[in-house]
Amino acid sequence: MRLNSPQINLIIKACMKAARSLIRDFGEIENLQVSTKGPGDFVTSADKRTEKLLIDELQKAHPDFGIVTEELGIINKGNTKNRWIIDPIDGTMNFLNGVPQFAISVGYEEDGEIKCGVIFNPITNEMFCAEKGNGAYLNNSRIRVSKKRKIKEALLVTGGPKEASKIKDKIFSEYINVSRHVSNVRKFGSAALDIAYVACGRFDGYWQRELNYWDIAAGIIILKEAGGFIDFFDEDANLPLKKNILASNSNIHNELRDLINKKDIE
Ligand code: IPD
Ligand code: CA
Ligand code: CA
Repeated sequence: MRLNSPQINLIIKACMKAARSLIRDFGEIENLQVSTKGPGDFVTSADKRTEKLLIDELQKAHPDFGIVTEELGIINKGNTKNRWIIDPIDGTMNFLNGVPQFAISVGYEEDGEIKCGVIFNPITNEMFCAEKGNGAYLNNSRIRVSKKRKIKEALLVTGGPKEASKIKDKIFSEYINVSRHVSNVRKFGSAALDIAYVACGRFDGYWQRELNYWDIAAGIIILKEAGGFIDFFDEDANLPLKKNILASNSNIHNELRDLINKKDIE
């Protein structure tokens, strides 16, 4: 792999370390599913344990860096120049159900821009990583987005709405409109892996409302470095960590945007 910044190396090391205990935790899930208590609390502690391992490892090298993370929120608020953006388990619902579609996701942001990131599914042992200017990789192989040009042939992925969403109807109607014009739509339950799968050409595009920055931070650079395009829509300046995302192989981007804006396409 030709990625060599100190930050990407640190993230990879932290992810590998955290993955070891996460694999053990996932192995426990099957037993817990059949117990009367259920795996709920256990998952919360697996999340927290993974987050702590990642933070400890990253802080050893840079105690002063800011950290935006799902469970603990923002650490070192004063440092907005260098920040780690962490989702310890993206795809918790899958994890909880023993479905091996979840990932550790860590991005590094400098002056507001994501410079490198890693999305690691420890169960399938697939590590997606990228660094600005140096390409995107799946394990040791360079990855590229798909070449598809026609949206009606595209295989897309999406997610949501969350149970508490106040815009469920809007999300469902977008889903219907997009589905009518594409080959098919999947819902895999991990935003980080959804973007990574667009980056390596398994899907042609991805859209989703009501995400958090940590769900997709690492994915931003992985997709860009794989030749994809990513942008955000209906942004709320008061909620900078909330994201509505549109990500694609670039070729189908405008048509996908039109579908979400409910414009009919040919
Ligand atoms: C969730 C996953 C899921 C997406 C949700 C996210 P979590 O993250 O990425 O695919 O639909 O919006 O919250 O809770 O599993 O870290
Ligand atoms: Ca997440
Ligand atoms: Ca999470």
